[in-house]
Amino acid sequence: MLRTHTCGDLRSEHIDQKVTLCGWVQKTRDKGGLIWVDLRDRYGITQLIAEEGVTAEPIVKKVRELGREFVVKVSGTVKEREAKNDKIPTGDIELWIEEIEILNPAKLPPFLIEDETDGGDELRMKYRYLDLRRNTVREKLRLRHKVASATRNFLDTQDFIEVETPVLIKSTPEGARDFVVPSRMNPGEFYALPQSPQTFKQLLMVSGFDRYYQIVKCFRDEDLRADRQPEFTQIDCEMSFVEQEDILNTFEGLIRHLFKTVKGIDLDTVPRMSYADAMKLYGSDKPDIRFGMQFVELNELTQNKGFGIFDAAELVVGINATGCASYSRKDIDKLTDWVKRPQVGAKGMVYIKYNEDGSLKSSVDKFYSDEDKKAIAEKFDAKPGDLMLILSGDINTVRKQLNELRLEMGNRLGLRNPDDYKVLWVLDFPLLEFDEESNRWHAMHHPFTSPKPEDLDKIESAPREVRANAYDMVINGTEVGGGSVRIFEKPLQQQMFKLLGFTPEEAEAQFGFLMSAFEYGAPPHAGIAFGFDRLCSLFGGSDSIRDYIAFPKNNSGRDVMIDSPASIDDEQLKELGIDLK
Ligand code: AMO
Repeated sequence: MLRTHTCGDLRSEHIDQKVTLCGWVQKTRDKGGLIWVDLRDRYGITQLIAEEGVTAEPIVKKVRELGREFVVKVSGTVKEREAKNDKIPTGDIELWIEEIEILNPAKLPPFLIEDETDGGDELRMKYRYLDLRRNTVREKLRLRHKVASATRNFLDTQDFIEVETPVLIKSTPEGARDFVVPSRMNPGEFYALPQSPQTFKQLLMVSGFDRYYQIVKCFRDEDLRADRQPEFTQIDCEMSFVEQEDILNTFEGLIRHLFKTVKGIDLDTVPRMSYADAMKLYGSDKPDIRFGMQFVELNELTQNKGFGIFDAAELVVGINATGCASYSRKDIDKLTDWVKRPQVGAKGMVYIKYNEDGSLKSSVDKFYSDEDKKAIAEKFDAKPGDLMLILSGDINTVRKQLNELRLEMGNRLGLRNPDDYKVLWVLDFPLLEFDEESNRWHAMHHPFTSPKPEDLDKIESAPREVRANAYDMVINGTEVGGGSVRIFEKPLQQQMFKLLGFTPEEAEAQFGFLMSAFEYGAPPHAGIAFGFDRLCSLFGGSDSIRDYIAFPKNNSGRDVMIDSPASIDDEQLKELGIDLK
């Protein structure tokens, strides 16, 4: 080892010891013959000191040559500091420099490598290796490591086996576009990178592995958001001879273990909600249940009072923003503009204000009497001081819009504290959704998800109503995981492919391997995959998963550090049999 200690190790008990440290120069201060150097490594910062007349002249000279981010090795004696710094663990001591070696000089970094940096996002991404020297950034990756190792520990105690599955595969139909890789040895043919190891983990069940997991990279060519990256990591799991209840219990156990070990939090029992209720009460399949403000449907009370917009609407629905009656006309106008923005897309918003004096004032007083408003307020369970906000339109559209408004009001009222964690299972998702663009049914989760046996008879006659044995785990309004009980019988899988518009030949060509495996003794099985990056960012209290990925892509899917994606030369293209013209 080049060093005896790290920059985070030294305390009062080391006083008078001779030690050697290595690290990066964070900053130097030179005052009246005294020179201080902050030396940093992964473990902390130690103050070094040299003094003209005390420290040997050539050493003083060398210390004066140090610049930011020089890599140095110093030896010396630990002494008590005169002015102690209780902000850092090594703040009681300093190291009197006796020998110093510059292991490598450094160019001036393009931004400050300190907790508060002056570097913008793009610059920090370009020099991500420097950004990663910063404590705040490194701590996020440490948290990621902790979540990964706690996951492995837990699954190990439950007899899960980690198995790696291939990265060069054939397309898995998870709904996003595939990244493809041309094959030199098979000109004109392409591998696809896995959107998830779905089919492989099911094959491992056929192989008898019984309990599989993998912390695994997945690739999806989809539009990026704060919680989406083109390559991301899943905790992917599958179990045999289980029912939905077993999966929910086992993985509630995993999440409980992670909260305890990573955050020190004892999780309450995780409530469960059907997809239908989630949509009806929150307008979302991933409701944030840190706060109430549930939807109240008002059609019965608003119909036939002469207000054409509500009469014509499929759904009239609102939320009660408790304590917001103090909103001025201007505040409400601003909120109305907010829901009218294209991102939300409402045509307008109706409000009913429950004044402190008990009177009810609304934007539709022309149509609704005091009695009418009272009945509505009762349905909202509103109290004086509350503000009811109402939208109307097509069921699906208006629910989406009101979900946005509810989350916004939750933010404004400070009801979405990132340190407050509310975990929820959403169950009984629809098996299928109709895609207008391609004019056919799509699997809402994926084509290997089993329908609920009691809904099987509706599969041809009313496909929309068939529910799946599929479940999502939602934490604070983020979908952190999803899975399902699988189809394991060939005839049902064939029927499913048919429903999804595959001809028997297409199904055979794409999934013949799976259906053939089902003929060799496939056990009943079920599983789930968690978004590992999302879990880490939630534990870290952040909305963006990028901070928890060592080398993330930007919002255009680019790695600005290595400048990728990039074109390849003609020779390489030719070898791959690709003609771009
Ligand atoms: P699903 O597609 O729901 O299920 O993915 C599982 C979880 O992965 C996370 N996730 C993402 N995280 C970051 N960036 C992305 N682009 C991204 N896409 C998804 C989400 C999601 O809940 N094979 C099935 C699982 C199964 O059925 O067992 C699957 O992949 O948190």
